Amino acid sequence: MKHDAVQTYYGETLQGSADLQTNACCTAGEMPSHLKPILARLHDEVLARYYGCGLIAPAALKGMRILDLGCGAGRDVYALAAMVGETGAVVGVDMTPAQLEVARRHQAFHAEAFGFSKSNVEFHAGFIERLDDLELEPASFDIIVSNCVLNLATDKAAVLRGAHRLLKEGGEMYFSDVYADRRVPAALAEDEVLYGECLSGALYWNDFLTIAKAAGFGDPRRVEQRPLTIENPELEAKVAPIRFLSATYRLFKLAGLEPACEDYGQAVVYKGTLPDAPHAFALDDHHVIESGRVFPVCGNTWRMLAETRFAPHFDFIGDFSTHYGIFAGCGGDSPFNGLETPEPVTPAGGCCC
Ligand SMILES: C[S@@+](CC[C@H](N)C(=O)[O-])C[C@H]1O[C@@H](n2cnc3c(N)ncnc32)[C@H](O)[C@@H]1O
Repeated sequence: MKHDAVQTYYGETLQGSADLQTNACCTAGEMPSHLKPILARLHDEVLARYYGCGLIAPAALKGMRILDLGCGAGRDVYALAAMVGETGAVVGVDMTPAQLEVARRHQAFHAEAFGFSKSNVEFHAGFIERLDDLELEPASFDIIVSNCVLNLATDKAAVLRGAHRLLKEGGEMYFSDVYADRRVPAALAEDEVLYGECLSGALYWNDFLTIAKAAGFGDPRRVEQRPLTIENPELEAKVAPIRFLSATYRLFKLAGLEPACEDYGQAVVYKGTLPDAPHAFALDDHHVIESGRVFPVCGNTWRMLAETRFAPHFDFIGDFSTHYGIFAGCGGDSPFNGLETPEPVTPAGGCCC
């Protein structure tokens, strides 16, 4: 699908989320309580033009510099602007003039609503496949977010390569998008409604993992997911039997990440010091780390906590001096499986990757 068809869809066809024909570009579920008062301060027009499919508000945002790919009318930009505070900054990029016009028009409103002396956001017109064309310093962002946009991109690998280049070492891409259970036939991507509704441009989930790793993001971690029900019989019939879901992934830019989860006998203890997460820190959907509890981790998880903005919130036990093999539970294809020497005992939680 061409960029101009998507621009028409988001700039003219849709005037607000009520015009959507499916529930793909919608965010379901209960909003976390700490986000409710922030969203309550956003401008109605910005809220009405929200087309995201997930929550892109990771922990520890104070003072961060964030880039939003395909920011639309700016709902997430402004919510994140409140969370990073006056010492942080949020930059939005979008290719649709009508969306950017709404976003820019409410800049002063939000600075005032948050009590900031000046706006901490800026918006750039551009294509996320060509981030190099924008005046953005390489390695200058702590976090890159995106909400229901990668599926619309014509060159998804270029988007991820560009994002990797713009992230600082130790930074992360934290984003929600739509994924298919198989490769979507090219003919369906020619259907403007199916494509505009974020369905027929969706990546097959396993291709996404391959592309992310090739872009330099080792060991992608899924944070949450929910099946998409579409809720439009005509469009459901067109895509059947393909199944879709929306998922949030975090991709860390960490040079030391290994292809598999290796065991160095390390562990971490969460101090419970992150605001809004006093009892447990959720790194991903299978690493929910309770405060005060010794939690065994593989080398990759260690780096995601020790070499990122999360480091001050953890105590770290061990180092990389001794390697004990594959992390318990992760060695499904190990040639040592079934041999007499027993595998190490699997800690609670099973495989870490
Ligand atoms: C589904 S909407 C999501 C908008 C916003 N993230 C939100 O949650 O409301 C998709 C947005 O991505 C933008 N977009 C799609 N493809 C793009 C591309 N290749 N480059 C830049 N922006 C793009 C569209 O203009 C539109 O505003």
